[in-house]
Amino acid sequence: MRRAMAVFVTRRIPAEGMRVLSEAAGCRVQQWDSEEPVPRRELLAGVAGKQGLLCLLSDRIDAEVLDAAGPSLKVISTMSVGFDHLALDEIKKRGIRVGYTPDVLTDATAELSVALLLATCRRLPEAVAEVKTGGWTTWKPLWMCGYGLSGSTVGIIGLGRIGQAVARRLKPFGVKNFLYTGSQPKPENAAEFQAEFVPVTKLAQESDFVIVTCALTPDTQGMCNKKFFSKMKKTSVFINTSRGAVVNQEDLYDALVSGQIAAAGLDVTTPEPLPTDHPLLKLRNCVILPHIGSATYATRSTMAVLAADNLLAGLRGESMPHELLL
Ligand code: NDP
Ligand code: DGY
Repeated sequence: MRRAMAVFVTRRIPAEGMRVLSEAAGCRVQQWDSEEPVPRRELLAGVAGKQGLLCLLSDRIDAEVLDAAGPSLKVISTMSVGFDHLALDEIKKRGIRVGYTPDVLTDATAELSVALLLATCRRLPEAVAEVKTGGWTTWKPLWMCGYGLSGSTVGIIGLGRIGQAVARRLKPFGVKNFLYTGSQPKPENAAEFQAEFVPVTKLAQESDFVIVTCALTPDTQGMCNKKFFSKMKKTSVFINTSRGAVVNQEDLYDALVSGQIAAAGLDVTTPEPLPTDHPLLKLRNCVILPHIGSATYATRSTMAVLAADNLLAGLRGESMPHELLL
């Protein structure tokens, strides 16, 4: 007997992903075909009676959505590696399988993390603005100086796939020491960089550059707070490409304004988008990007195809290319 495969896709996604779904025999697709997020009401209506849901990190999939979907829902496939937007305990309770997109975005996100680090520590947005606004009057020995990676200590919070890919890219810049923290030492991840596992306080104290690449979990939520920033050196640079909620943004603002730390680069914030009048946007020493870690054409296309493949495999009762085991 052919399995029912009615699916709801919560956004316009790269065409390659939609093609996989539309070419799959028996798959009926309903889509919120917009660049903008699906309104909650439309999400609740769209998912009703579906077997599959292909969603994004901006869709909060909680008990309300699962109830609206009803018992027909068998598979949720998120076009992201992060899954903090999914109420996993509710999903597990209902026996729903989950697909996600690890690995395929690691290189793009690591590359963006390094770009953001360099832009922040070498003050690129400020320097570009000076050129455009006439601040560049002559070559000045004390002007537009920043901090370089050569001989530095880099601390990575979460030496997972992306954390390792960042370290791999930074090593050739002449980084002297890598420190990392996590729920437990990962010697197999650390060996390539001779990275030392340290408590988070020691990482804050000793790093010239702190890079956050961990998952958002109850343990990591708000972990970069006043206490954390107070341990960092005044010359240190803080980078976050994980999730905004890992950082207490008020505490970060205070640390940047008071000179407790030198600068910060954020690809992720709370909320997203950050309101254009947010105090952090007024700071010279804070570089903020609109969550573009995985935003290369090729990566987004591959993520869409993987999300579609995960969904279809789950609906067919087969093993998924990347299933999140609950
Ligand atoms: P991984 O699962 O490979 O790595 C996650 C890391 O988080 C692990 O090393 C884990 O360490 C660490 N971690 C978990 N708990 C803690 C803790 N309490 N303290 C410190 N570290 C901890 O995931 P990826 O590297 O593939 O992705 C990481 C995250 O990056 C995603 O969850 C997502 O939120 C974000 N991301 C952001 C993107 C962007 O566009 N900016 C793009 C892609 C991902 P341990 O195993 O020791 O617990
Ligand atoms: C993810 O996949 O979790 C990122 O935040 C976006 O690619």
